[in-house]
Amino acid sequence: MRLLPLIAALSAASLAVPAQAQEPAKAVTVSSPDGSLVVSIGAGNEGHPTWTVSRKGKLLIAPSRLGFLLTDGLPLDRGFAVTGSETATGDETWEQPWGERRFVRSHYNEAVVRFRQAEHRGARLLNIRVRVFDNGLGLRYELPEQPGLKTMNIAEELTEFRLVPKGTAWWIPGGEFNRYEQIYQKTPIDAISTAHTPATMRLDDGTHLAFHEAALVDYSAYWLKRADGQTFRTTLSPSSRGAKVVRDLPFATPWRTIRIADNASGLVENDLELNLNEPNKLGDVSWVQPGRYVGIWWGMISGKWSWATGAQHGATTQRTKQMIDFAKKHKFRGVLVEGWNKGWDGDWFGTGFDYSFTQSTADFDLKAVTDYARKQGVRLIGHHETGGNIAVYEAQLEDAMKLYGQLGVDVVKTGYVADAGGIIAPGDKPGEVRMEWHDGQRQVQHHLKVVQTAAKYRVAVNPHEPVKDTGLRRTYPNWVAREGARGMEYNAWGPFNNPPGHEAALVYTRMLAGPMDFTPGVLSLQGSNGVPMSSTLAKQLGLYLAIYSPIQMAADFPESLEAHPRELAFISQVPTDWAESHLVAGEVGEYAIFARKDRNSADWYVGGVGGAEEHSVTISFDFLEPGKTYTATIYKDAPGATYQTETRHAIAYETRKVRKGDTLELWLAPGGGAAMRLAAGK
Ligand code: NOJ
Ligand code: CA
Repeated sequence: MRLLPLIAALSAASLAVPAQAQEPAKAVTVSSPDGSLVVSIGAGNEGHPTWTVSRKGKLLIAPSRLGFLLTDGLPLDRGFAVTGSETATGDETWEQPWGERRFVRSHYNEAVVRFRQAEHRGARLLNIRVRVFDNGLGLRYELPEQPGLKTMNIAEELTEFRLVPKGTAWWIPGGEFNRYEQIYQKTPIDAISTAHTPATMRLDDGTHLAFHEAALVDYSAYWLKRADGQTFRTTLSPSSRGAKVVRDLPFATPWRTIRIADNASGLVENDLELNLNEPNKLGDVSWVQPGRYVGIWWGMISGKWSWATGAQHGATTQRTKQMIDFAKKHKFRGVLVEGWNKGWDGDWFGTGFDYSFTQSTADFDLKAVTDYARKQGVRLIGHHETGGNIAVYEAQLEDAMKLYGQLGVDVVKTGYVADAGGIIAPGDKPGEVRMEWHDGQRQVQHHLKVVQTAAKYRVAVNPHEPVKDTGLRRTYPNWVAREGARGMEYNAWGPFNNPPGHEAALVYTRMLAGPMDFTPGVLSLQGSNGVPMSSTLAKQLGLYLAIYSPIQMAADFPESLEAHPRELAFISQVPTDWAESHLVAGEVGEYAIFARKDRNSADWYVGGVGGAEEHSVTISFDFLEPGKTYTATIYKDAPGATYQTETRHAIAYETRKVRKGDTLELWLAPGGGAAMRLAAGK
């Protein structure tokens, strides 16, 4: 890693690189610890900060430009020269308080390259840091303190990715009204328009990539916009203020990340973004407790009950106490109650101006139900639906979290139901509002404020209609889950049902970002008016292993859950905190079977989801401890089952002994899945 004339393995002539983005004249190169991934950064012709990436000797990202457009000054994109660089290496293993695996290794080489712009362009200073792991990389901009630039008013970030190999992509559009709640599209890479991240790709040679970002703090999220061919550029989520991001110097941007792996399991068993986030800032977080929960929820989502007061009101004291009894009986830690607070009458898709986060409706006694829950050893899970009105919510935030903290409500689900661009933020003067985006800088600031305020009162947070996850749970471990994709709720809404391959797409896309509050466990397999789901019964159990979250709901009505005693028995003990997690079989968008080891026992759990087509998979029990015999309790699709007919309810059970080295043939129905507990014996 030194300044060297670029005679890199990549010859510009063989690449047909257009003149505006040639190999940098001087570049700093940095390789991953195993040497497979090589990144070089330098000043291209006309002084554009430029980067390239190659893997195993093949060019992945052709010379691509870096920089910024400003609203109030010349762009930071040309006329730069490299003035110096430093390199470093890191290798540490850190422990997660909860998660998919207990220990995470972070092993990388890094370089920071210092650029200075020409005198006549403002002599501004820009540092670019790249951190290269064996399974991916992160690149960020660092703006040091400098005389000529005090505040950056960023009109756009110009990070370019000129992807060379062809392949297939799985993605959802950025900037659309429904935020992240879209069905994943599978297209050639060059048919992407503007994608949210994580955006996943499988190159024709089998290499798997995922573009994303890490440590999104006080900045706008980026969308991956295709410029032409396979050239992509960052597009920052908008702001009402003209500049998409406003920051005082010094500051660093989020990391632009690319996971790079030989296969699907390398993509999934990959902690790149977590490793690029800062360590836990909250200290002792033993109060953040993983667990399963039920709630007064599916009744509203499926239209039987209402959030609003009246005859249909779901959140009554009596119903909540019954739900607490049910939770206690079946070993659920939490009971979610939505629609408990004043101001939510009328349209459920409200504007939030009348919402109270401290006052209950007349038929819901918050103190009585939390007292009752405490006696039963169950926790109430709180709910703050804002209707996207963060002006109203922020004004009550401290009081609202304090109240929950005092009552022992240690998880709160928040919500920002509003179309994209519909976040109502406080304006500069009293009474003024500003309209913002769910993933713009203002809302990114808001989420962190909520998480930090909640932490003061030992409350964990689970936002719906959130900003995407970028690994901040490492820094703030009370940020336990979020929505940020189409969850189970769509299966309650008839024609908007999730397609049978939806979850098998989620595993390799949305789930790369972090835990999702998908809310599985609708054992009736039907939504409102009896409209069937694209799921078998076994898949409902498989979801607990495919879609990771430290808080996992069993979403169905208690009577539906109790109508399936064997399935309820599985859900009542499936862990939500793991020592290890491995994708043992899977292909992007088709199926995903995980093996996960319980963090609190020697037991393993295996299972996951199929897709639209049937699949036969062979599970090798290589991960088990040698010399031990495990009793496997297996739940699988009955022969001939399919999501398309009443056979979706057909499930088969089996119990057998397994040992390390054994294999098992598993058939996944169309829209199917499987789950098993491997109880450790001697
Ligand atoms: C949408 C959320 O995803 C859902 O879980 C919640 O019940 C409603 N908003 C109301 O807050
Ligand atoms: Ca939602």
